[in-house]
Amino acid sequence: MPAPFRTPLTVPARATGAGPDILALGEPLVEFSADSDGALEDAVRFTLGYGGDTSNAAIAASRSGARTGYLTRIGGDAFGALLLDLWTRNGVDISGVIQVPDGDTGLYFITRHAGEGHRFTYRRAGSAAARLTPADIPEEALARARLLHVSGITQAVSASACDAALHAMRTARAAGTLVSYDPNHRPALWPLERARATVLHSASLADIVLPNLEEGRLLTGEESPEAVAECFARRGPAVVALKMGAEGVLLSERGRLTRIPAHPVRAVDATGAGDTFDGAFAARLLAGDTVEDAARYAVVAAALTTTGHGAVGPIPNRAAVEKARAAAV
Ligand SMILES: Nc1ncnc2c1ncn2[C@@H]1O[C@H](COP(=O)(O)OP(=O)(O)OP(=O)(O)O)[C@@H](O)[C@H]1O
Ligand SMILES: [Mg+2]
Repeated sequence: MPAPFRTPLTVPARATGAGPDILALGEPLVEFSADSDGALEDAVRFTLGYGGDTSNAAIAASRSGARTGYLTRIGGDAFGALLLDLWTRNGVDISGVIQVPDGDTGLYFITRHAGEGHRFTYRRAGSAAARLTPADIPEEALARARLLHVSGITQAVSASACDAALHAMRTARAAGTLVSYDPNHRPALWPLERARATVLHSASLADIVLPNLEEGRLLTGEESPEAVAECFARRGPAVVALKMGAEGVLLSERGRLTRIPAHPVRAVDATGAGDTFDGAFAARLLAGDTVEDAARYAVVAAALTTTGHGAVGPIPNRAAVEKARAAAV
């Protein structure tokens, strides 16, 4: 069989003029995390937070220094306003955020249960973002950007959002904009067979694929990290970064495998670690790092994210990542 791998990753030059280099597409969510352990019906006080995998990744990219924007639909409700404020405070461009006056922004609730960990309750069906369609994709902005980041969660929330994600990937590809794709498989959102078909097809439209080991095994049917990475790589992306929690990352660059150990930390909450890896990796690639250097940076950014509670708060900025890297040598 001829070598299936594409040419090396070619990072597009920075376009002249304003506008984000990285555009992330997906569904942002507002988080309510119960302050005390127990069932949701017994919870009285909640701490406000934010989630949505690609929104987390956009914030991570921005904190690592990339000009980043977010593409989504939000409701005209208070939750949409909170998200607009979140992105603005984090330097994420919101010109690609469509506000739908009578739409609803997705929400989720986190409860903690002794001995069982976290439980998530979502209110996102029919949300403004779930009603994304291909017509919402800003084709010119995607052509001006240097990298598009998309995930399987966006494809899982509705058929029209899946179409929108696929249209965005095709538009980016045709314009020479890199496509970064995180399967982020969530079994509750769609059946495995549909996930498998969509994720493997999406891998063939992507330059960079960023699965974790658990979902990689489920989606490819392979067992070893090497075989999982190779199965994605055979679809055509130049880079596969297989995320393995405390075991770090297995990087496949056109089929050449490199193991990148995790940065040792005292982890308290891994929420958003994978998303932070995705955003930090994209930011450093566009800044001119080699694929391996960008992955080494992103591993440290992801590790730091696990040292605090919640997804967004602990995402480090570039100075914090460089400080941790300097301390580690
Ligand atoms: N306990 C840990 N110690 C150090 N680094 C970690 C730890 N957990 C995660 N990381 C880093 O974060 C990266 C991404 O984490 P993980 O493999 O959990 O991704 P993920 O499952 O995609 O996460 P997400 O829940 O955000 O989707 C890992 O590859 C690793 O570099
Ligand atoms: Mg993940």
